[in-house]
Amino acid sequence: MPSPSSSDELIFFVNGKKVTPGPFLDSFPPVRLTGTKFACGEGGCGACTVMVSRYSTTNQEIRHYPATACLVPLCSLHGAAITTVEGVGSIRTRVHPVQERLAKCHGTQCGFCSPGMVMSIYTLLRNHPDPTPEQVTEALGGNLCRCTGYRPIVESATTFCAEPTVCPVKGSGKCCLEEEEEEEETGSVRARRKVCTKLYDKDEFQPLDPSQEPIFPPELIRMAEDPDKRRLTFRGERTTWLAPVTLMDLLELRADFPQAPLVMGNTTVGPDMKFKGDFHPVFISPLGVPELCLLNSEGDGVTVGAGHSLAQLSDALKSIVSKQPAEKTETCRALLKHLRTLAGPPIRNMATLGGHVATRATISDLNPILAAGKATLQLISKDGERQIPLDGAFLEGSPEANLKPGEIVLSVSIPYSTQWQFVSGLRQAQRQENAMAIVNAGMSVRFEDGTSTIRDLQMFYGGVGPTVVSASRTCAQLVGRQWDDQMLSEACRGVLDEIHLPPGAKGGQVEFRRTLLLSLLFKFYLRVRRGLSRLDPQKFPDIPEQYTSALEDFPIVTPRGLQMFQCVDPRQPLQDSVGYPVMHQAGLKHATGEAVFVDDMPPVGQELFLAVVTSTRAHAKIISIDTAEALALPGVVSVITAEDVPGENHHNGEILYAQGEVICVGQIVCTVAADTHAHAREAARKVKIEYEDIEPRIITIEQALEHSSFLSPERKIEQGDVERAFRHVDQIIEGEVHVEGQEHFYMETQTILAVPREEDKEMVLHLGTQYPTHVQEFVAAALNIPRSRVACHMRRAGGAFGGKVTKPALLGAVAAVAANKTGRPIRFVLERGDDMLITAGRHPLLGRYKVGFMKNGLIKAADVEFYVNGGCTPDESQLVVEYVVLKSENAYYIPNFRCRGRACRTNLPSNTAFRGFGFPQATVVVEAYVTAVASHCDLLPEEVREINMYKRTSQTAYKQTFHPEPLRRCWKECLEQSSFHARKQAAEDFNRQSRWKKRGLAVIPMKYTIGVPIAYYQQAAALVHIYLDGSVLLTHGGCELGQGLHTKMLQVASRELGVPTSYIHLSETSTVTVPNAVFTAGSMGTDINGKAVQNACQILMARLQPIIRRNPHGKWEEWVKKAFEESISLSATGYFRGYQTNMDWDKEQGDAFPYYVYGAACAEVDIDCLSGAHKLLRADIFMDAAFSINPAVDIGQIEGAFVQGMGLYTTEELKYSPEGVLHSQGTNDYKIPTVTEIPEDLHVTLLHSRNPVAIYSSKGLGEAGVFLGSSVLFAISDAVATARRERGLKENFAVRSPATPEWIRMACVDQFTDMIPRDDPSTFTPWSICVS
Ligand SMILES: Cc1cc2nc3c(=O)[nH]c(=O)nc-3n(C[C@H](O)[C@H](O)[C@H](O)COP(=O)(O)OP(=O)(O)OC[C@H]3O[C@@H](n4cnc5c(N)ncnc54)[C@H](O)[C@@H]3O)c2cc1C
Ligand code: FES
Ligand code: FES
Repeated sequence: MPSPSSSDELIFFVNGKKVTPGPFLDSFPPVRLTGTKFACGEGGCGACTVMVSRYSTTNQEIRHYPATACLVPLCSLHGAAITTVEGVGSIRTRVHPVQERLAKCHGTQCGFCSPGMVMSIYTLLRNHPDPTPEQVTEALGGNLCRCTGYRPIVESATTFCAEPTVCPVKGSGKCCLEEEEEEEETGSVRARRKVCTKLYDKDEFQPLDPSQEPIFPPELIRMAEDPDKRRLTFRGERTTWLAPVTLMDLLELRADFPQAPLVMGNTTVGPDMKFKGDFHPVFISPLGVPELCLLNSEGDGVTVGAGHSLAQLSDALKSIVSKQPAEKTETCRALLKHLRTLAGPPIRNMATLGGHVATRATISDLNPILAAGKATLQLISKDGERQIPLDGAFLEGSPEANLKPGEIVLSVSIPYSTQWQFVSGLRQAQRQENAMAIVNAGMSVRFEDGTSTIRDLQMFYGGVGPTVVSASRTCAQLVGRQWDDQMLSEACRGVLDEIHLPPGAKGGQVEFRRTLLLSLLFKFYLRVRRGLSRLDPQKFPDIPEQYTSALEDFPIVTPRGLQMFQCVDPRQPLQDSVGYPVMHQAGLKHATGEAVFVDDMPPVGQELFLAVVTSTRAHAKIISIDTAEALALPGVVSVITAEDVPGENHHNGEILYAQGEVICVGQIVCTVAADTHAHAREAARKVKIEYEDIEPRIITIEQALEHSSFLSPERKIEQGDVERAFRHVDQIIEGEVHVEGQEHFYMETQTILAVPREEDKEMVLHLGTQYPTHVQEFVAAALNIPRSRVACHMRRAGGAFGGKVTKPALLGAVAAVAANKTGRPIRFVLERGDDMLITAGRHPLLGRYKVGFMKNGLIKAADVEFYVNGGCTPDESQLVVEYVVLKSENAYYIPNFRCRGRACRTNLPSNTAFRGFGFPQATVVVEAYVTAVASHCDLLPEEVREINMYKRTSQTAYKQTFHPEPLRRCWKECLEQSSFHARKQAAEDFNRQSRWKKRGLAVIPMKYTIGVPIAYYQQAAALVHIYLDGSVLLTHGGCELGQGLHTKMLQVASRELGVPTSYIHLSETSTVTVPNAVFTAGSMGTDINGKAVQNACQILMARLQPIIRRNPHGKWEEWVKKAFEESISLSATGYFRGYQTNMDWDKEQGDAFPYYVYGAACAEVDIDCLSGAHKLLRADIFMDAAFSINPAVDIGQIEGAFVQGMGLYTTEELKYSPEGVLHSQGTNDYKIPTVTEIPEDLHVTLLHSRNPVAIYSSKGLGEAGVFLGSSVLFAISDAVATARRERGLKENFAVRSPATPEWIRMACVDQFTDMIPRDDPSTFTPWSICVS
């Protein structure tokens, strides 16, 4: 160890201010800037993006790059200038154009991702003030947003592009229209309405003036240029950071501390410390060593210093590719292709080539290509330099090919390719960008000049073993062979023989991965054949035209969109903003990072941090809990268990702390309270729990059915005579559909601040919840105090989507118990992994159907059973099942219809509410059987949908009368405006000419129910105070989750009171101001709270009327003053009793819902049959919005929900082990859509209709769009069906959700899927299982 005595001064700048710690890092003053958000802690989401600027002495330039703060070690910032969102702009001083445009283009909803988005765009503009649309899309590739669906974010950033974006109304002949006349049919009346397309006004935007940006601190330039620079040493509590500035010193340190990691980008070291518990007492940071940053492209190749970031590597390669002849840059181009999608820009800017190579990760995207391209490593140590090949032996970790102690990678040499050589990089991941590959490969072949005789062949695969593996034996055997089909067959057999992936291999997807070995090889084979043909077309015939589609990956294009909505009546008073696309009330605060989330609240005196200890067994008896070691750690104050709950530990079937036994992996057994988050977490790891397994352990729905394990009784509705109808139909089909669950992935994890008050035993909680009343109930029950002593405050949540309806109550009570025990405030922030594990998500669903139909596609009878995997406690599973049963007919009238549903009790964490509440899962089953009927009748699914769709005023299966005219209109418009039939025809033409990529289309109709069948769950209250200066304080029971509820409430209050929205303030939701408020969910927020706000305002206006009548031309302020002088109360409570809905389950009938929302969506996708990738080309969404109070908010909800639905149905896959352990616990393993996944073209149209029951004739649109995302699933299934038909397979195959690359690939059966070895399921334990 270096001498512990001294520590150098760590100097860096944050937002132009110099920051220096004391003599030791532990005394580092907190900067306390809370704009930068923390959402994953592993570099995967971009919420914490900041801009790092460094001065380079080599080229005397300042480099600005984005970095994910969660992976940046403090000490690595020495000499850097950091810009956070606060340094970009502020509403208190000046909002930066990037922030302004993000807000005004409606690119923020919950706002939790917004600071990260701002920083990515801002950094791009610092480097490229006139970016291209492609640069914008690339810049946003590392930032996740769960709310908006990205389109408005991209749009806000492309407003900075110099080149105009292409008109979105492709081929229509109309361009950039702002208003258009549209024919609207209501009943038999045809009317012309104005249609608007402009959601914001570009003229309002401030121009970008790059000269106004802050300058780089001159002090840092002086520091960098200091000729007397020397090694720096920074000391922390347990670690020492050594930053050498010369190569010699680095090598000395490497020799002295052979175990110390060289921290370059920290993108491997950091996550390993955090998630694998690696500990290092010493770190060596060689970032300042100039020899690591050299670049030399003269001679036979390029030599790149190991210190180059991957982004710098990419820039260097681009420059080389632009200068050198193509034949020399095969390897460079292959690397560039993978560098475009490897992680996101912040990681690419932090991670270094040396770190990447030295890590030798199995999923490395670059190493297989470098190996195939015969790269070499220059190693250096105190003892000298040597070169080793970056080959199979190195990558597989052979001892003789390893770095020796004391050695480092100095640089990597990449030889130029030659004329008769081809090099490719190939990969397939769960999503196209910012996702580790499932399998990747680097391949190279070199021919004898002028021939197709193989002289040298290299194949390296990642993702199929613990290291990158080489198919060296196969390659050697093929030397001398011709590059032809026979060689390919042998190569395939050889690879399968050589690379063995055991059936239970970690990561699962075994058969898929085996298939990818061959698919990627085949793609390479075709590319080389094409390349040979290009070199000598006479000698080497080109590949068949239909095969060319196998050559290219899907391009990444900048998405664009068109939104159409009703225009506001020009006679509407100017100050009345109802109907206008008003910006989110907190949009600017989101974009400047000034919107305060719970964890942004300043520390409360004496506060403690809480960390959880969760069960590692699915069903077991707790034998003992040993807390001694944890309690002995520094800073630890208490370990809290079930024994510490003064009141009810079990409340309404839910359990706070496990007691006696655990019933799922992830159940909270105890919590640890400590003075810092790090101490609490460290101590939590030290708690030892002994278990004894209990049988049975039930994980899947099938196992639950075997054990008759249910959470609640069956629900059923039935109409007609199902059995009789089955006897009179032309055909009957039966099937089963599995829909897996979904993680909410709200960007702000569950966060609670619980503050105990000694006086009167009060407990105050601040948290992001959809249901403060529920939190109050659970906390009161847990502490055994009246609810009146519990105050819950909720200002905003960073996304919720149903995940913050019930779970915050449980977690709030857990925190309150800890606060009660310790007598100190508790800050409880769930880490992403814990949040995913503990709070569960959407219910996995199994649907079994039997459907009877006529030859013309008319469905006469359906008998459907649904089972959901509810998990270990009731939560809202019974309600979900009721919704599934009531909503599952979707848009179809089936005269003889029986539907049953049941919630299964399993040993998984308890699943809960999620946007759409069962509907998005159940209706997949419905659309699957409709699709199956179509296939049997040789009809398009759209034809069968239309035949069976509700047509006139009808009754649902539970006998509620409704009028489906808007449904028919959405359907018709969708088919027409999307040019479905023409595009379907074009797709067929495309498919005939394309063997390996197939195009599919689907149009899906929707009848979505709003509200709940229980009247009292729809009541709402509001409180409105008018102050003597005329300002208004508005409070209501609804929670702002990003959905724009408060924005709409301001619009309502503004209209009712006749004052501009600027007069009205909306602060927070609280149990103190509005008691007993129901949950904000079910798309009802605006409906019910709007009515309550309206009521309160109308009461006040009624009181003011006599004054206004006496002084009609007076001002608002005068009326208010006068009212006070006349002793008229200026405060009123508004109330809405709720819609009078009901459902009688015994009679199987009721007026269950106040109204329906209708919609239709058309999606067009391409699939890659060889890799399983898909690309969403276009989506057209038509939504019956009735009258939209705020089209920007409503369109935002529709687009966001659609993209979230797309995620559910395609990329998002939760993986459970057979023992019930959730494998997917972070951004690394769970893939929500990124900007790359959204439709290239997204058209959204709000159709106008009437809805007299709701406020201003509006409709609740928060959830409906999720299901429309299934149009993507069915478009994929259409494409897969085409591929299968072409291969002579029976078309009817089981649709399932999600349609992952694995599912797509394995469904597109071909010679490669036929070749791979299959395993007998009874002979092994799979790594993961399907739980639906
Ligand atoms: C969110 C995220 C997404 C990612 N996505 C991808 C992806 O899609 N594809 C992919 O291939 N990779 C991906 N990665 C992995 C990433 O490429 C590697 O983590 C990165 O390249 C490592 O470089 P680094 O500079 O950060 O290494 P560090 O973490 O700083 O160091 C890693 C290791 O390398 C050693 N080391 C570093 N430099 C040298 C040297 N010069 N000589 C000897 N040893 C050295 C260190 O001692 C340490 O043991 C991802 C990582 C993250 C965090
Ligand atoms: S990337 Fe840092 S919090 Fe997600
Ligand atoms: S606005 Fe992007 S995560 Fe909520």
